Amino acid sequence: MDSDFGLIFGDNVVFSLASMALRKALLLGIGFVVWAQRAHCPVDRSFLRLPVAWSTMRVQDGGDTLWVPVVFHLIASDSSRWLSASRVQDQLQALNRDFAQVKVQFYLPARGPQGQPTCGITWTLSALGAGHDYRTEEDTLKKLIFWPPDSFVNIWVVENMADNTIGYARALSDSASLPGIVLVQAVTGNRVGTQRRFDWGRTAVHEMGHVWSLLHPFEGGCAGLTPADCAIAGDEICDTPAQRGPHFGCPAPGSKNTCPDQPTDLPDPVDNLMGYVDDSCMTRFTPLQGQRMRTYLLTVGSALISPENQQARRNALQESFCEAILALPQPSRPTPTLSILPDRVEVTPPALLSLYDGMGRLLRQGYGSLSTEGLSPGWYLVQLPTWGLVKKFFYLEP
Ligand code: ARG
Ligand code: ZN
Ligand code: CA
Repeated sequence: MDSDFGLIFGDNVVFSLASMALRKALLLGIGFVVWAQRAHCPVDRSFLRLPVAWSTMRVQDGGDTLWVPVVFHLIASDSSRWLSASRVQDQLQALNRDFAQVKVQFYLPARGPQGQPTCGITWTLSALGAGHDYRTEEDTLKKLIFWPPDSFVNIWVVENMADNTIGYARALSDSASLPGIVLVQAVTGNRVGTQRRFDWGRTAVHEMGHVWSLLHPFEGGCAGLTPADCAIAGDEICDTPAQRGPHFGCPAPGSKNTCPDQPTDLPDPVDNLMGYVDDSCMTRFTPLQGQRMRTYLLTVGSALISPENQQARRNALQESFCEAILALPQPSRPTPTLSILPDRVEVTPPALLSLYDGMGRLLRQGYGSLSTEGLSPGWYLVQLPTWGLVKKFFYLEP
C-alpha cells in the first residue's frame, strides 16, 4: 500500500497516517437548512475501519501551497436561471479565504479536460437542476456533466433542492457516485445575502472538508475523549474537543461545553468550519484538520495537485478569452462526433456514453469511449445524455 501512494519517508514535515481515515468509500455529508430541520448529516462511517498497515504510513508534506482546479457545473431548468459567473468568482474567493489557513488554494482552470479553453464553468440545461433530490437523483445529475474527478474537483450548482438541503459532498475515490460537491444557488457565492445564515460561501468550504475526508466535530457524540482514542473515535481529530451534537446559530466561543474531554476539559469547537453554526460564525479548521486534508490530498488526491495543476493555477475568469466565452449564448459547446469503430465506440469531445442492447437494457457506460469487446452481433443503442443523442448501430463480430 505504501508504494500505491508513493509515500516518502522524509525528514521534512512527516505526518503519521495512523489517524487517517482515507477510504475509497463513501462520505456523504448532507446539508440541511437547519432552521427547517436540525438533522445530523448522515455521514457514513463504515469507511473508517482502518487497515492495520496504515498505522505505519508516513507522507512527506513540504508545506507548500497546494493548488487545486475546481470546475463549476451550473445546472438550471431554464437559461434565465443559471447562477452568474460573478457569483462563481465570489464563491472561489470564499473558498480561498478559508482554505488559506491550511495552505490550499483553488483556481478555475483555463483549460478543460480536452485541453479546450474554458472559464472553469459549464452550463447545462436540465430539469434536474430544479428541486434536486440527492436520494434519488445524485447519479443522474452528476452524469449530466462532469470532468475527470481525479484531475478536477467538480462542483455542481443546482437551482434548489428537495427537503431544504443546501449542499452535500462525496469523498474522492468513492465508487458509489462521482466525488465532489453539490450546492444550491442560494448558498453559492460570498456575502450575497440571498440566504441569510448561509451566505458567506462556507457551505462549499464545509463540503470541501468532507471531500477531503473530514468529519463533523460532533461525529460519534462524545466519543474520543482521551489522547488514547481521539484519533480513532469521534471525528478522529485530536485538536477538536469532543462535542455531543451540532450547535446552530452563533454561540460565542467558549460558551458551550457538552463533553468532558480528558485530561483537560475543553469547550466545544463552536467556530469550526465542519460544524453547523451560521456561516459568519464558523471560521476555522484546526491544525490537525488541515494536516488530515493535506495528507489526503497528497495521497488519495495526488492527481488533483499534479505538477501540471500547480503550474496551471491561473484564475480562468480573469483571462481575456473568458470574456468571449461568457458572452456566448450558453450552453454553446462543440457538437459531439460519435464514431463506431471495430473495437470501440468513441465520442469527441469525450462525454459520458451509455450502451444499451436492442431490448433497451443498459450494458455499459464510460467516459469518452466504450469497448465493444464481448458483444454478440446485433443491434445496440448509444446514448449521450448531455446532448440527448441516441444512435442505433448494428454490431458485427470483428
Ligand atoms: N450541514 C451541511 C453538511 O453537513 C453543511 C452545513 C454547512 N453549514 C454552514 N453554515 N454553511 O454537509
Ligand atoms: Zn457536513
Ligand atoms: Ca469539553
